[in-house]
Amino acid sequence: MTDLELCRLAHKAMEKAYVPYSGFRVGAALLTANGKVYTGCNIENASYGATNCAERTAIFKAVSEGERDFLAIAITGGQDGDDTSACPPCGICRQVMSEFCDKDFRILLGKEHGTSYDAYTLEQLLPAGFVLEK
Ligand code: THU
Repeated sequence: MTDLELCRLAHKAMEKAYVPYSGFRVGAALLTANGKVYTGCNIENASYGATNCAERTAIFKAVSEGERDFLAIAITGGQDGDDTSACPPCGICRQVMSEFCDKDFRILLGKEHGTSYDAYTLEQLLPAGFVLEK
């Protein structure tokens, strides 16, 4: 699985976004250490705070299937699915990533239908994050 393939899967996942309130589509594709990919989309709710972001949908799908070892996530999104520019993950999603992922976990912000991306590590996007000893 190449980075661009993962970005294309994130772009495809935007099709499933349930966004009757914002029209802002987000897709995510999460790569596990054993090569599986879990995709996710944002799922909005009439009670706005109950909305689930695409990244968390993908992570929660994977964890609920017994996966906890992740290498990278590709994210793509925009108004009406226009992914001309990058769609960085919100703070809650960064915190959820930090629960399961190492500081070198890769976050790929896909653009232009998965033809290019900006790459970051979790440490770059969530420096000095909150952790509790397990
Ligand atoms: N959204 C995501 O899916 N992921 C993010 O990291 C940021 C925001 C969604 C939530 C909502 O459905 C829409 O984008 C607009 O905020």
